[in-house]
Amino acid sequence: MATPQTNNTLDVGAIRKDFPILGREIKEGVPLVYLDSAASSQKPSQVIHAMSRFYETEYANVHRGIHTLAEEATAAFESAREKVARFVGAESPRQLIFTRNATEAINLVAHSWGRANLQDGDRVLLTQMEHHSNIVPWQMLAAELGFTIDYAPMTEDHRIDLERYGQMLEQGPKLVGFTQMSNVLGTINPVARMTEMAHGAGAVVLVDGAQSVPHMAVNVAELDVDFLVFSAHKMCGPTGIGALYGRRELLEEMPPFMGGGEMIKRVQFDSFTVTELPSKFEAGTPPIAQAVGFGAAVDYISNLGMPAIRQHEQEMIERALDQLEEVPGVRIYGPAAEHKGAVAAFTLSDAHPHDIAEILDRRGVAVRAGHHCAMPLHEKLGLPATTRASFYLYNTSDEIDSLIEGLYDVKKVFA
Ligand SMILES: Cc1ncc(COP(=O)(O)O)c(C=O)c1O
Repeated sequence: MATPQTNNTLDVGAIRKDFPILGREIKEGVPLVYLDSAASSQKPSQVIHAMSRFYETEYANVHRGIHTLAEEATAAFESAREKVARFVGAESPRQLIFTRNATEAINLVAHSWGRANLQDGDRVLLTQMEHHSNIVPWQMLAAELGFTIDYAPMTEDHRIDLERYGQMLEQGPKLVGFTQMSNVLGTINPVARMTEMAHGAGAVVLVDGAQSVPHMAVNVAELDVDFLVFSAHKMCGPTGIGALYGRRELLEEMPPFMGGGEMIKRVQFDSFTVTELPSKFEAGTPPIAQAVGFGAAVDYISNLGMPAIRQHEQEMIERALDQLEEVPGVRIYGPAAEHKGAVAAFTLSDAHPHDIAEILDRRGVAVRAGHHCAMPLHEKLGLPATTRASFYLYNTSDEIDSLIEGLYDVKKVFA
């Protein structure tokens, strides 16, 4: 296991005190062992308090008011946008659109950019490891417009097959969409390389950062991607808000996604004109307090340092994989630890993942069981479901031990 640099080490004991829920017992004497952060992370007091403070002292609707509270709320909302935009290296906060979540951000690109640029005979290239959020919006649009969707395959060790990907790019897809980190396999895709290849083939690139942005430094300028989507709730922030980063020229050309207040310049009985970025894509009252919480979450993880978070998680996943491999009957999916984030999907002999999750829950160990919104990937793996343990900045090696002990409970039940 790699030795952490002293200045790159998280003080997990101190971090855990920031998360009130981690002090909870699932039942008497059974502490919570939360290994489900890939579904949604827990929230530190800093985020919870930023939102309640905002509601208690500054809350009003944004943008439309002249009174003091409206101005303060607008300043808080726009300051959150600046933080989130800076966090992913966007040139300007105008290129950072607040959405409801990563899913809505992909739908925005599909229905706005896609509808304006795709037609019958075109191709869109995705990968076999996508979450339903980066498959279904394209399938819905393809059913309407008639374009073809291709899926770049994986290698035997569940990494993207770059050779096949390169060959599929030769077919001239107009858009290439892929996840930076698989929510099942944990695979971290080589985004800069894949983007360079896609641009070389003339495609626009959309990266699903739902699993990567919370866990590692992601910079849109360095990666040169055209669109990046992510959700606050997986990165210590609240539910109900996510983000779309877009290249300015593309966003400027794209038609609005939804109509209503905020996205217009002028409305007449028979027509309307559209306002500027980012409001053009933010119809209606936005998630204001959630934006404040999103900003506080970005502050929280930035203060810890993304390299330190990544380092901690790398140690966690190396350890988890080592220990899981020793449990007889466990089969792990995904590449070796150095190519993946802190996600371990596995099966255990013939035990159904739902039974595994239920037995682990008796020990307070929260894992996810099922297809993890990646049914086509599971079909490819020849499995109906897996059990998934996922780790974040607050997890400890003792919690990995609890997971392993729980798996021996499962083996006893199914012996
Ligand atoms: C890789 C990936 N993409 C997209 C999503 C969708 O995120 P949300 O449900 O927040 O829109 C998820 C959520 O699990 C995910 O893991």
